[in-house]
Amino acid sequence: MPLSGFAIPSASHLIAGEWTSAASTLTLTNPSDGTDITSIARGTAADVDAAVTAAKTALTGPWGQMTATERGRILSRLGQLILTRTEDLAQLEARDVGKPITQARADAVALARYMEFYGGAADKIMGETIPYLQGYTVYTLREPHGVTGHIIPWNYPMQIIGRSVGAALAMGNACVLKPAEEACLTALAFAALAQEAGLPAGALNVVTGLGAEAGAALSAHPGVNHLSFTGSVGVGTLIQTAAAQNVVPVTLELGGKSPQIVFDDADLDRALPFLVNAGIQNAGQTCSASSRILVQRGVYAKVRDRMAAAYTALTVGPALTDPSVGPLISARQKQIVAGFLDQGRDLSIAAQGKIVENAPSAGHYIAPTLFDNVPPNHPLAQQEIFGPVQVLIPFDTEEDAVAIANGTEFGLVAAVWTRDGARQMRLSKALHAGQVFINNYGAGGGVELPFGGTGKSGHGREKGFEALYGFSTLKTVATWHG
Ligand code: NAI
Ligand code: MG
Repeated sequence: MPLSGFAIPSASHLIAGEWTSAASTLTLTNPSDGTDITSIARGTAADVDAAVTAAKTALTGPWGQMTATERGRILSRLGQLILTRTEDLAQLEARDVGKPITQARADAVALARYMEFYGGAADKIMGETIPYLQGYTVYTLREPHGVTGHIIPWNYPMQIIGRSVGAALAMGNACVLKPAEEACLTALAFAALAQEAGLPAGALNVVTGLGAEAGAALSAHPGVNHLSFTGSVGVGTLIQTAAAQNVVPVTLELGGKSPQIVFDDADLDRALPFLVNAGIQNAGQTCSASSRILVQRGVYAKVRDRMAAAYTALTVGPALTDPSVGPLISARQKQIVAGFLDQGRDLSIAAQGKIVENAPSAGHYIAPTLFDNVPPNHPLAQQEIFGPVQVLIPFDTEEDAVAIANGTEFGLVAAVWTRDGARQMRLSKALHAGQVFINNYGAGGGVELPFGGTGKSGHGREKGFEALYGFSTLKTVATWHG
């Protein structure tokens, strides 16, 4: 019983505070060994409709009446509760996603951090008064959108629930969450813990199921007032198209091809772990994975050789053995990544990691691969791979580096490794990305740091205070009093 410890009946949605079982089910499998974990509900358009109705109803009940301080208290309580259950959540996630257990534990702690952050922030978002014509007083009110739809992927369920549902609840929205069909367990566990923390019925509803069924029904539902999506560019386009039919705002986070740029004067000892980890964490199935390493010619051979040595030392195996790299989420994802490796057969490989000998044959393992001297326009240097694959690209000048870094359709994250302060400033402005890191990558996760993309990486910002503006709408009140 993988859900033991959490009060979740199998194959059920959470709608209006009740676990409702579904007529049709899907099977969750463990990517580490291909075994079945449990069955989940296969949500229909009718289930989504019931969830949206429940959310709407919650907005007219205690949830809608609650003060921001009270909402914050519930989220803070939920954060505390999650902190007491991080090991249970990590065990679920490691089995469901194939995420190495240390990384799954970090995600569980991050989920708690989101609740703490948004719990504390809930009553600190304020409107303003605006000087206006004689005889008027004008002020603004920050109000929830209403019902928010959250369609999330399988790669970081806990982190993405934390950043989107956490911020939406803090602002007083009522949520309908559709987790990915590949990995739903921590979404269901989170909802159970939210109930335990005192979140009123209907403030958070979870409908599991397929993207083309439950996901499509949620994105097209006329009762949804805001959509938040993380996933592929193709599905993001469908979501934005569906949202346009109902004229509702969308936040899209669609991944990237994020570069790290290493100049000759970089502190290589500091850079090295970031260069490798940002590519192989969660087996490279990370929207902000750094899949392109741009290295200035003077240190190119040194960086390549040191990264190659790190790759050779990587272990690849089942999530619960805590390898450096776990399996990919599915046979399909493995096939996608293997297809990219095949496209790289004309390139030379600097190094590959090793799959442990006793890795279960039904697990979706792939050897982490570092490609050497890759032309910037090669498909492997242009397209999101979503696997443990990085390409090394040499460059000569700062101008070249910026042109290569900005030379993809994406713009999520970028990093610059240099000791030159003026260059740090120039590049922070020149790079097309929602986040730029100087002499680090990812800044330790950064619950507090606004996150999101430009170009095909999407639009809108989650995380930090900024998300609270995205999950609310502004009303201007102008009173004439003479
Ligand atoms: P996906 O975009 O199909 O799935 C993400 C979510 O969207 C899931 O909850 C899914 O059920 C839902 N969905 C799928 N089709 C839908 C539809 N027609 N209407 C509404 N919702 C729908 O991503 P998938 O297929 O799992 O992965 C394919 C590729 O997408 C990956 O190889 C990777 O490149 C990219 N991806 C990027 C992610 C990121 O973090 N930015 C996360 C997951 C995938
Ligand atoms: Mg899909």
